[in-house]
Amino acid sequence: MLAAYINRYGGPAVLQVGDLPEPKPGPSDLLVDVAAASVNPIDFKLRDGKVKAVLKFAFPLILGNDLSGTVRAVGANVRRFKAGDRIVARLDKARIGAFAERALVADADAAFAPTSIDLVDAAALPLAGLTAWQALFEMGQLQAGQSILIHAGAGGVGHFALQLARWKGARVITTASAKNREHCLALGADEVIDYRSTRFDQALADVDVVLDTQGGDTLLRSIAITRAGGHVISITAPPTPEVARAWGVKPPVTWILGFLTRRERAAARARGINYHYLFMRPDGAQLAELVSLVDSGVLKPSIDRRYPLLQAAAALAHVEAGHAVGKVLVLP
Ligand SMILES: NC(=O)c1ccc[n+]([C@@H]2O[C@H](COP(=O)([O-])OP(=O)(O)OC[C@H]3O[C@@H](n4cnc5c(N)ncnc54)[C@H](OP(=O)(O)O)[C@@H]3O)[C@@H](O)[C@H]2O)c1
Repeated sequence: MLAAYINRYGGPAVLQVGDLPEPKPGPSDLLVDVAAASVNPIDFKLRDGKVKAVLKFAFPLILGNDLSGTVRAVGANVRRFKAGDRIVARLDKARIGAFAERALVADADAAFAPTSIDLVDAAALPLAGLTAWQALFEMGQLQAGQSILIHAGAGGVGHFALQLARWKGARVITTASAKNREHCLALGADEVIDYRSTRFDQALADVDVVLDTQGGDTLLRSIAITRAGGHVISITAPPTPEVARAWGVKPPVTWILGFLTRRERAAARARGINYHYLFMRPDGAQLAELVSLVDSGVLKPSIDRRYPLLQAAAALAHVEAGHAVGKVLVLP
């Protein structure tokens, strides 16, 4: 089957497209004919080797973390799905490989695809949608009437987060460049701050929840404008040692992570703020809730561009440039 893969870590040039053997489903797996996969920044971070200390892979490594597609075959223990079903899924982080004609999905990670949008476009939903859901509702405990600052509201995660926060009844503030202002307002933002011309921390105070997609100085300034008892969730800063330990990562990597995250953890502690690092997880049941929000018209994926699999490198480059509006898809 055709796949986009790497044989070593490195820059854009290490990505190859060629023939690799088809994966064999285990007892709880679905073998899926991929309709589309979405590009997520984790794809180029993985390619670069930036997460190799915490996520171990063998080569050749097919990139691609989430997909939409049609079930081709199922393992002996699978009851919920059968050949011909149309599904979406975020793949297990230890067994990725969506940039291919076929991929394996664990039964528990899949949900039936939305029926109201094109199957290809549904590939936008799993990873970014689940990240937004877990950040806002599991970690941030976002409630109606609360305020939330969502950084990069025009991006892959941000555009789902805006829509989910609005659906929940929160007051939604986001950062974006001026060209994306109207788009963010249409997605549900009450206030859009142009991060190129305005310092958000001079415009805001006592926010209940912040979703940080930028890390660094943006994260520290976000902690400074959150109310005591509020929640700041970063999906971009290095993982906290607690999260890494829960993945089975051992010293000295956990000590290094403790050092790298010391400033945000200390700032949050000093202000009485709940600081969380989120690495999203696949969850078929939660994904089914997102699918029903798509089918009821609450959630609409924005698709920036669609690329054929042969141009996977160009798709990654577009996202890596940092200004995609919504999601970028790769179609085998
Ligand atoms: N931990 C996890 O589980 C997890 C899951 C998903 C994503 N992530 C991480 O979260 C980050 C965002 O992911 P994504 O998929 O949403 O990325 P993305 O779609 O590539 O984000 C692109 C958007 O970022 C905006 N942007 C760029 N610089 C900005 C800034 N300084 N302030 C505000 N907005 C800015 C751009 O808007 P303009 O064009 O207007 O600048 C663009 O719309 C990445 O670092 C990714 O690795 C982590």
